[in-house]
Amino acid sequence: MQQVVIASNNKGKIREIRTMIEEIELLSLADIDFTDDIPEPYDTFEENALAKASAIHVFSGKNVFADDSGICINALNGAPGVISAHYSGVRDDEHNLQKVLSELKDATDRTAFYKAVICLVWDGEVYYFEGICGGRIIKEKRGEGGFGYDPIFVPDGYMQTFAELPLSVKNEISHRGKAVKKMVAFLKERIREDSSFI
Ligand code: IMP
Repeated sequence: MQQVVIASNNKGKIREIRTMIEEIELLSLADIDFTDDIPEPYDTFEENALAKASAIHVFSGKNVFADDSGICINALNGAPGVISAHYSGVRDDEHNLQKVLSELKDATDRTAFYKAVICLVWDGEVYYFEGICGGRIIKEKRGEGGFGYDPIFVPDGYMQTFAELPLSVKNEISHRGKAVKKMVAFLKERIREDSSFI
């Protein structure tokens, strides 16, 4: 079976992506003994995803993908965006979410979207896959599932937050789910083409 490394230490993300990729063995950073912190210093999801994927590719020599993702809130001019993971100044989901709730206290426009960009390094080439999931920010947390801003995010077309919806539903409609699906379709095609050359 072909292998690909996921350049992330985020357990929530890894758990979600594992359930979506069955055709390829997914290796974590722990599996390849990579323990460094990878910086994400850029202003775009694309640049941060490329920085992470490249660092792991150089370290391991393996095919690798990295995702950079975040939540963009229209009333906050797209913030937290690329700094979603440490919006409050600390890498803490609860602090970040509370900061958003207090900034949106009087806001009438509560629309937001999650965005994920995957950068895949496959056979030495670089590919990007994007997914977006629109929704709105509610006034108080609801639900125990998911991670990050999920307890305050209700996706379009649903009444429950991402933290209340089953993971299978989240994977179906989420930004990351959409980006991963695009990547999986691409990889299936590549693997099919490669095996027809043998
Ligand atoms: P990254 O590891 O730099 O991609 O940081 C992504 C951050 O965006 C996470 O730490 C969360 O704060 C937020 N985020 C991204 N995707 C999700 C999601 O599916 N649910 C909740 N929060 C998310």
